Amino acid sequence: MSANPSTPTGDLKGLVLSGGAGTRLRPITHTSAKQLVPVANKPVLFYGLEAMHAAGIREVGIIVGDTEDEIREAVGDGSQFGLEVEYIRQDEPLGLAHAVLTAEEYLGDAPFLMYLGDNLLRDGLTALVDRFRSERPDALILLTEVEDPRSYGVARLDGDAVVELVEKPTDPPSNLALVGAYVFTSEIHDAARSIAPSGRGELEITDAIQHLIDAGRTVSFDRVGGWWKDTGKLADMLHANRLILDLFEDRIEGTIGEDVVLEGRVVVEEGALLERCRVRGPAIIGRDTVVRDAYVGPYTSIYWGCTVEDAEVEHSIILEQTTVRSLPARLTDSLLGKDVTIEGDTAGRGRSLQLMVGDSSLVRI
Ligand code: G1P
Repeated sequence: MSANPSTPTGDLKGLVLSGGAGTRLRPITHTSAKQLVPVANKPVLFYGLEAMHAAGIREVGIIVGDTEDEIREAVGDGSQFGLEVEYIRQDEPLGLAHAVLTAEEYLGDAPFLMYLGDNLLRDGLTALVDRFRSERPDALILLTEVEDPRSYGVARLDGDAVVELVEKPTDPPSNLALVGAYVFTSEIHDAARSIAPSGRGELEITDAIQHLIDAGRTVSFDRVGGWWKDTGKLADMLHANRLILDLFEDRIEGTIGEDVVLEGRVVVEEGALLERCRVRGPAIIGRDTVVRDAYVGPYTSIYWGCTVEDAEVEHSIILEQTTVRSLPARLTDSLLGKDVTIEGDTAGRGRSLQLMVGDSSLVRI
């Protein structure tokens, strides 16, 4: 995703939500921000920031909570993305509309693109932002059909009009879910001030947009092209990893030692070392990672500084500086945190192991 220099800049600000406790990704999120879990060896949040830049946005406010330090360290002043980033502290996760109010001073009168930092959109944000720029509605939402709408905000349409929005309905009025990318004018601030907390005690952005509809404002919608993923749960995170790895071309920058078989699309990043192993892509082996006497199967992302030795891993995400050694069974469908050691005894090899292990853990099998 690259920037189009002819895109108008400066008119729309960005607001990225990167607070939240990430309860559905525990234990990883006890010690790390969910937005920084790497998908295909890149933190989820970075995809969104790149997409904002590609859409011509330059000024971005990031809403942060308890994981502020970690987010600040990863994103810095935003210059690595061509952005000017400021951080806005939300002391409690009181909802998306509360986050908007928290950012009111930063946003001023500017229209803005609000983006949930754990969402992934294959086709980025450019089409949405361009549509807003040409039509200038009071709000523009993004919708997609989902199998079970009950865990999302849901929209009911009448032709081209959005007539009703409900947050996590038990009896959904349609299968059209609200995706975590919205464009608003400053009208949204008053709307956010006018609503009451929902049953889960949050100021819902869905209710604030409904308030705009009720006040006769123009609320337009767009549909997701390509795919959209909310990476809030393990299965979704692994699915996102699959979807992104499917877009990769092979690239070998590390060292391929003796008796190595690479099948399909494999990325080996700089400083990585492979010896006596088979890697069946799509897969990515991160910077300074060692894979030795091992099998790495499809849809595996191994981040930087890891060791995978005398072990089999597939369809998994492994975070930085983690060691997987002498496993008695193949590790599959797993998410391992940073600086984890999983060690076993290869005698009596079994069928498979599924693990979700938080940072700095030790597991002996
Ligand atoms: C939030 C919004 C919901 C939207 C979803 C998209 O849900 O409240 O309307 O459909 O993001 O990811 P939450 O992540 O708070 O469950």
